[in-house]
Amino acid sequence: MTSVLFVCLGNICRSPLAEAAFRAEAERLGLEVEADSAGTGDWHAGHPPDRRATAAAARNGIDISHLRARQVRPQDFDRFDHIVALDRQNLRDLQRLQPRGSKAELSLLLDHVAGREGQAVADPYYGGDAHFDTAWADAAAGATALARRIAATGLSPGQTGEPRQSEGR
Ligand code: 4NP
Repeated sequence: MTSVLFVCLGNICRSPLAEAAFRAEAERLGLEVEADSAGTGDWHAGHPPDRRATAAAARNGIDISHLRARQVRPQDFDRFDHIVALDRQNLRDLQRLQPRGSKAELSLLLDHVAGREGQAVADPYYGGDAHFDTAWADAAAGATALARRIAATGLSPGQTGEPRQSEGR
């Protein structure tokens, strides 16, 4: 079973949306997956998603109110096949945190969407409801594309085949 961890900064806005959208698409596809989300920061550990994220997900028929934030841990890099960053800073932080020799394949979420490689899911935290709707749409586009690729290819580490524009170096 393929396992995927979605990572943003606080784990209360973007990555819970990506996790929920990924689970929903996997379920639609009949794909068995393990999915979770985490933050590079620990300020919100134990907290439910931001109420504006919960509302945006609810507008799209998905309940994320039961999720609780946590920080990325070193063990995640061996527990998950894929660790998927919501923006480039998250990706850089994950590259810095990844223990040498661990199995997880790191990628940027929108690298999985044809034509959107290298793009970030913008942080909606200081925005309004419209920013959260955009975060939902972008997170769902990436998560849906990733689920479809896993279903189609059995995508496993080392097979992402994506250009590395997302590394921004
Ligand atoms: P997220 O959004 O990374 O999408 O969960 C944020 C949540 C909290 C903060 C920043 C971004 N914060 O500064 O507390």
